[in-house]
Order: sequence, then structure tokens, then C-alpha cells
Amino acid sequence: MAIFIKILMISVATTAALPALGSGNLSRPFEMTDITPWNAGGTTQFPIHASCNATQRRQIELGLAEAVDLAAHARDHISRWRNESEIYRKYFGNSPSMEAIGAFEVVVSGDKNDVLFRCDNPDGNCDLEGYAGHWRGENGTKETVICDLSYETRRSLSTMCGMGYTVSGSETNTFWASDLLHRLYHLPSIGQSWVDHYADGFEEVIDLAIENATLSTHDSETLQYFALEVYAHDISIPGIGCPGEQHEHKHEDDETDVANSGGSQPTATSTTGEASSTTADVPANCHTHEGGELHCT
Ligand SMILES: *[C@@H]1O[C@H](CO)[C@@H](O)[C@H](O)[C@H]1NC(C)=O
Ligand SMILES: *[C@@H]1O[C@H](CO)[C@@H](O)[C@H](O)[C@H]1NC(C)=O
Ligand SMILES: *[C@@H]1O[C@H](CO)[C@@H](O)[C@H](O)[C@H]1NC(C)=O
Ligand SMILES: *[C@@H]1O[C@H](CO)[C@@H](O)[C@H](O)[C@H]1NC(C)=O
Ligand SMILES: *[C@@H]1O[C@H](CO)[C@@H](O)[C@H](O)[C@H]1NC(C)=O
Ligand SMILES: [Zn+2]
Repeated sequence: MAIFIKILMISVATTAALPALGSGNLSRPFEMTDITPWNAGGTTQFPIHASCNATQRRQIELGLAEAVDLAAHARDHISRWRNESEIYRKYFGNSPSMEAIGAFEVVVSGDKNDVLFRCDNPDGNCDLEGYAGHWRGENGTKETVICDLSYETRRSLSTMCGMGYTVSGSETNTFWASDLLHRLYHLPSIGQSWVDHYADGFEEVIDLAIENATLSTHDSETLQYFALEVYAHDISIPGIGCPGEQHEHKHEDDETDVANSGGSQPTATSTTGEASSTTADVPANCHTHEGGELHCT
């Protein structure tokens, strides 16, 4: 008994003495030190607000998981093929591949602390006709509101190429994955005010790749269309996909054909090209994309 107590005392004394020996003794790798891990406090999980009930939360989480899958595959396709991919050249011209790879990677691996999805309609926009969700803008730059219409209409990527869907003929917000990709790009921590709207709709996206390819690798719609098309082509119906009717690049007679000048200068003004058809129902900071998709900045 006495021996036992003595051992215990020594052990306590040793433990108490540890900090005095100084940190950084490599022979004791598990000693506690003041140094926190380099990634302390980081999160790869998307935060979902308490206002989302169980079914809403589950759908948003599954949608975000698909958005990450969609972005990860787009990144992988580019990493493998760069501009040797015909689909890459269709959407990005001969732009260097690293910007598009980065735009997808930030969705996959970027820190998710400054992201929040909520379901409580704090700005009242969900009451507006056609609203499936919106970025809160000045009311909460990290926050995205998802409205009831999303749960009723957004589809899983597993339905890709089914029910009449084609990449060129359908809206990018057909799927949770691409809709949420778009919403994520509006967040300062993901889109970084660099991914923006330079083209609206499939035709403009194809034109952008031909005329202003340097903008295409950080254009929100281009990134969505590209991700959808490679997912359809590589995963949903391998080798075939469902690209839909292809674009015919038509120019007015008096317009110079710039199809071969892929390296045009980027514009400094980022949002001016964003077609907005504002109606009385749409708040000043919102606009309607081609196809009726409402969107607030
Ligand atoms: C590291 O710990 C070992 C074992 O406790 C000790 O012998 C050695 O002196 C320590 N070295 C330093 C630099 O503190
Ligand atoms: C969650 O809220 C939505 C919208 O109010 C509702 O339709 C749904 O039934 C709710 N789910 C649960 C599990 O309460
Ligand atoms: C890919 O881009 C490089 C660099 O711009 C260019 O030299 C090459 O011809 C392009 N490849 C194809 C298949 O267009
Ligand atoms: C921010 O809040 C104001 C006041 O409630 C509202 O008028 C505006 O539409 C909101 N902005 C967004 C993007 O919802
Ligand atoms: C390309 O950029 C030029 C000049 O910045 C602009 O006038 C033109 O509208 C852009 N084209 C497309 C398709 O965005
Ligand atoms: Zn947008």
C-alpha cells in the first residue's frame, strides 16, 4: 500500500513538472502545448440554421452534398483533360484551366464557417411569387434563405437526363446541386466577389466562351452549365450525356465575327451585363434571370 501511494505521488509530481520542462520536447509528442492545430476552428460541414425543420434540413443537406459532388466531378474532369476536353472548350474556350478548377474546389474544400442556410423567411421574399430562395445581401452576406418552392421543385442529380431534361434546353436550377452551386457563388467566402454574372442563359454562356473566354472561368452560369454537362456526359449517361440542341453562333451582318479572338479583355464592370426584368413584385436589389428565375444580390 505504501509503495502504491509512493508511485502515485511520483506520477503526480512528474505530471505537475511537465510544463516546466518546456514545450517542443520531441520525445514526448503528446504533451499539451499552447500551439493549436493550423486548421483549428475550420469546418467542412455546411451550417444549417435552427429554423430549418427535419425535412427541410435533410433536403438542404442532401442538395448540398450533391452540389459538392457536382463541383468535385467538374474539377476532376478539368484536372484530367484541361482544354483537351471538347466540353471544356465549349464553355471556357482555351482559357487556362486553373481558375475553373479553383472555382469548383472552393465549393468542395473551402471552409464553411461563413455559410448559413436558413428556412425562416426573415426578409419576407419567400412570399413573392416564384421565389425558391435568395441570398440575403446586406441583411446577411453569409446567409441564404431557402423557400418552400425549392422543396417542391428541385430535383436530385440522379434524375439527370430524365424527364425531358437537357443541358441547353432546361434551367440550371432544375437540380438542387446546380441551384445551390449558384447560391454558394454569391457568398463572399465562396464566390469571393470574383465569380459573378457575366452571361445569362445558355446562349450567352456559349457566346461568352467565344468572345470573352477570360470571363468564362469565373462566370456563375458558365460554371453551372459546364458542371451539369460533364456530369451528364461522364456519370449519368457515360459517353453520351444530354447536351440538348447545340448553339448556332449567328451574327448580324454588320457585326464582326470574333469567334477566333478567344483572348478578349475582361470587363471591369461585373454586374452590368446581368439582364434584369424588374417588375413591381421584385425588390430593387433583385432581378429575374432568363426563364423566370428570381435572384437577389
Ligand atoms: C525531453 O524529455 C526527456 C524525457 O523526459 C528528457 O530526458 C530530456 O531531457 C528532455 N529534453 C528537453 C530538451 O527538454
Ligand atoms: C417542415 O416545414 C415545412 C414548411 O412549413 C412543412 O411543409 C413540413 O411538413 C415540415 N416538416 C416537419 C417534419 O415538420
Ligand atoms: C489548349 O490550349 C493551349 C494553350 O492555349 C493551345 O496551345 C492548344 O492548342 C489548346 N488545345 C486545343 C485542343 O485546343
Ligand atoms: C433586407 O431587409 C429589408 C428590410 O426588411 C428588405 O426591404 C430587403 O428586401 C431585404 N433584402 C433582401 C436581399 O432580402
Ligand atoms: C465581351 O466583352 C466586351 C468588352 O468588354 C463586351 O462589350 C461584350 O459585350 C462582351 N461579350 C459577351 C458575350 O459578354
Ligand atoms: Zn445569381
